[in-house]
Amino acid sequence: MTLWHGRFGGTPSSELLAYTQSLSFDRRLAHDDISCSKAHVKGLGVAKIITGEEVEVLLTTLDGVEAELDSGQFEFEYSDEDIHTAIERRVSELAGDTGAKLHTGRSRNDQVATDLRLFSKRELAGICSRILEFQKLLMGLAESAEDVYLPGYTHLQRAQPVLLSHYFLAHGWALARDFDRFVETIARLDVSPLGAGALGGSSLPLDPDFVSMELGFAKRFDNSLDAVSDRDFVAEALFDLALLGVHLSQIGEELVLWSTEEFGYLRLDDAYSTGSSMLPQKKNPDIAELARGKSGRVIGSLTGFLTTLKGLPLSYNRDLQEDKEPLFDALNQISLGLSSLSGLLSTAGFDFSRMRKAADSQYLCAIDLAEWLVSKGVPFRKAHAIIGGLVRDSLERHVDLGELVDAHPQLGAEAAALLLPGVSVERRQSLGGSGTEAVKIQLESFRLMVSTEEIRMDSLTTR
Ligand code: ARG
Repeated sequence: MTLWHGRFGGTPSSELLAYTQSLSFDRRLAHDDISCSKAHVKGLGVAKIITGEEVEVLLTTLDGVEAELDSGQFEFEYSDEDIHTAIERRVSELAGDTGAKLHTGRSRNDQVATDLRLFSKRELAGICSRILEFQKLLMGLAESAEDVYLPGYTHLQRAQPVLLSHYFLAHGWALARDFDRFVETIARLDVSPLGAGALGGSSLPLDPDFVSMELGFAKRFDNSLDAVSDRDFVAEALFDLALLGVHLSQIGEELVLWSTEEFGYLRLDDAYSTGSSMLPQKKNPDIAELARGKSGRVIGSLTGFLTTLKGLPLSYNRDLQEDKEPLFDALNQISLGLSSLSGLLSTAGFDFSRMRKAADSQYLCAIDLAEWLVSKGVPFRKAHAIIGGLVRDSLERHVDLGELVDAHPQLGAEAAALLLPGVSVERRQSLGGSGTEAVKIQLESFRLMVSTEEIRMDSLTTR
């Protein structure tokens, strides 16, 4: 039996049921739907629309249905279009006429919006906590990397030696912006739509403030049309997830490069790499590659859902049912990506000497020579040209750059000493830069940021 059987003479076609159902994926909202129903029942009681006894019956029945869902004993029926229908049907079966009062003053339109906001608040807070764990891992790696340096790249060409800790922290700061975005998205979506009804509210004396408080929302909706049709929060969550996915893809790409024989900066642990079905010697960085690959899919979910929303008239339209699958999938992929990448990173072996060796080329210190000249009063553009000329000379004539610097009238032994291994990175002490002292200061700020995030995390989970 459908929820609307009174108005209809006939029964729904099998095509309609198959095409319009959302039960196959919105079962994930079962617990939030029960919470939403309990708050609604209490609200009906407070408004004296149902009696205190009926409130008790409905709450107990909802508990029973929840237990059936948890134990797997809940029997879904083919005609259960979505999780809301299934739960309401079961409540009616168990509680008869009282069960038939559950949906008083409510529509699936405000119900599904409420469920999805409850779900998103919790799941996005879960992503925040995974981001935080990942940042702590990066911080630990940065601390243990001490004075290890490697080439920093621009255009994927070796540019300047930078500390490995500086590298790890760079990714950590990008994740801090992600964390911040999720917290703000959660704050914006923390609004209860319950009481908006199908679109226009209700003639019954419902109290949307009461149910909002019951459900732990920060506030209730202001406009019922907006309440049932607003899915900005899904689009925002998808954007936050997509950008986090892009950051993970960038980390993934670096790990792919670093684990090649050509770079050789990283050895993958067996538990976090795969072999080849044909080539016996292979060890492949599949997790890192999928962190790169799956980000495309999450971006697809974002653009797909924005396209769904584009041009929709007020208020609820069935198109909005398309909000769940992209959101669920993006959450799944990103949270798996965070835990897999963190497993890969925490078990990988870093080849510090290979990194140092790659960065110990004299050419990577060319800028230090130019800046040394600047400190002696030579205008930078002239200094750049002098050093550029020496680099060219060294490459063309295959002469050691250090020797040329030593012999140069404006440079000499003091400047040549800048080319010794490890000197360049030591000297770069400008704030936020990759010098040892500067990175120590940065690490302190990073620690502080992480402890602020921990406090923000507490307030997200206790809300
Ligand atoms: N399954 C639907 C969804 O996810 C629930 C709302 C259905 N509302 C309706 N008027 N048909 O959007």
